[in-house]
Amino acid sequence: MIEVIKHKKELLSKRFEISSPLGFVPTMGNLHEGHIELLRRALQEFDNVVVSIFVNPKQFGPNEDFNKYPRTLEQDVLRIEKELKNYPQKKVTIFAPDSSEEVFDKDNKTKVEVMGLSEILEGAIRPGHFAGVTTVVYQLFKLVNPKKAYFGLKDYQQLIIIQKMVEDLKIPVTIVPVPIVRSDSGLALSSRNQYLTKEQLKKSLILKNTLNQIKTILEGGIQYLESANAEITKKLLDSNWNYLEIRDARTLSKDLSQSKSVVILGVYQFEKTRLLDNIVMDLI
Ligand code: PAF
Repeated sequence: MIEVIKHKKELLSKRFEISSPLGFVPTMGNLHEGHIELLRRALQEFDNVVVSIFVNPKQFGPNEDFNKYPRTLEQDVLRIEKELKNYPQKKVTIFAPDSSEEVFDKDNKTKVEVMGLSEILEGAIRPGHFAGVTTVVYQLFKLVNPKKAYFGLKDYQQLIIIQKMVEDLKIPVTIVPVPIVRSDSGLALSSRNQYLTKEQLKKSLILKNTLNQIKTILEGGIQYLESANAEITKKLLDSNWNYLEIRDARTLSKDLSQSKSVVILGVYQFEKTRLLDNIVMDLI
């Protein structure tokens, strides 16, 4: 069964009616297989799942694609309905507010920001982005009150920041990281992939191939860190890389001296479209 709710009031009374624990999948809509994988994971664990579909203005910078961001609610509902056929006993509530005030009160003046993690990597390029993400995710957690919430590993820094917010604010929710879903060619799925031309799509494999190349070097052990960094320096001669870095997988620190696992994160820019990808690996 599926139900679409547009108003916060309805969601709150629905939440009151459902006494069993909930799984939660927060999204900005324009669902692709990556989102459906989050939904699948939630449906495997919960009888009741809430999916939010809300293009959050607070996480877009003034020159970013907020107005252009694809809004495809009808299509999204059909996609969820199709997946739900595999789970006939389960129920999905879609919270799709049609105005910002359904999430943030009109005179809302509070922001939630995880300091130290929100200003680096993506945050250095998109100032304020992660404060926008944590502010909305916090509000959504308050409205939905889920037992578990599902986030894709593709937005690795987002995942780490949300985990830290949950830990610091002692929010009673478990964050479940879900592996990246890739196209047949290996490109990490993203709503923004549709902005790419055919030529750019072909070239986009540079992202995954480069991350794999760095991973292969590091598979020799941490003593190969210098060689991996030398390779990165060479790659960065191509100015389309926004960044390409090796960080501690848990803290995102540059200091890897205590690291058990690392994440190799990269962002490559095709004109206005920025593609993110990452690989997490254990160090030997
Ligand atoms: O990852 C996303 O789609 C968004 O950042 C999220 C978590 C739904 C918050 O708007």
